[in-house]
Amino acid sequence: MQIITDPAEMQAIAENLRLQRQLIGVVMTMGALHDGHLSLVRIARKRAGIVIMTIFVNPLQFGPGEDFERYPRPFEQDAALARSAGVDYLFAPEPDLMYPGEFRCTVDPGPMAERFEGSARPGHFKGVATVVLKLFNITKAHLAVFGEKDAQQLAIIRRMAADLNIGTKIEAAPIARETDGLATSSRNIYLSSQEREHATALFRAIRHAETETGRGRRDLSAIAKEGLAIVSSVPGSSPDYLCFVDDDTFDPADQAAPGKAYRLVMAVRIGRTRLIDNWRFVCEGESGTRNT
Ligand code: PAF
Repeated sequence: MQIITDPAEMQAIAENLRLQRQLIGVVMTMGALHDGHLSLVRIARKRAGIVIMTIFVNPLQFGPGEDFERYPRPFEQDAALARSAGVDYLFAPEPDLMYPGEFRCTVDPGPMAERFEGSARPGHFKGVATVVLKLFNITKAHLAVFGEKDAQQLAIIRRMAADLNIGTKIEAAPIARETDGLATSSRNIYLSSQEREHATALFRAIRHAETETGRGRRDLSAIAKEGLAIVSSVPGSSPDYLCFVDDDTFDPADQAAPGKAYRLVMAVRIGRTRLIDNWRFVCEGESGTRNT
């Protein structure tokens, strides 16, 4: 595995790989790698001949008072994990090379970026879309694998790729979960052992929605309200949002209609740690729902 820190060098390597007719897959991360990231690499490995992983804690997507400084940066450990997962190139640029003094242009991802994670974190998705577009251009990837855990991010990246004719195929990887259902996240390490236990309430709310929609209920707002009661019942929890949305537009959804895909999305603070999770389902026929 080759470690590259200069965007121009990475771009030249990628151009050369394309000239050699190599299929390039990219997995973009902010480091602090866990099983979730490695599952993205496994998908990229299956689909592409060359796998590039990027590690960059992107200052543009952190708001004031967020955990940019505190964000874990265990680079040596990450590099070892990337190597053993079969990454060919690890691109880990310096912030000054990604955002030099003269940097001005950013991507406006539109209205989908303003709700949920976007309203809780103003400017977050503008930062994400901007760095993702830069990383597409630097790595010249044919395909990119993103985790479904950040479902709104995935929807925005898909929208950007389509709207701006980016030409990189976007693949979604299912959410990796701990044995008790908690979605794997770099932020889980901030949880105390008691908070870690309370954090399973998010998955219990998902299970509840799965059971209720499976029984044929379509009153999504009411099911979401019940989910909210589940996550609110644990000590130290403070939900930011928990509701169903249309899976393409992220518009809030009250009632499920047959043939349409929805997503239960949530962000809940457990102690000082903000966790997100989601669950997608497709409403089927007259009386049932199917998990996907
Ligand atoms: O999901 C993440 O880790 C980041 O938002 C991404 C896509 C690497 C952009 O910085």
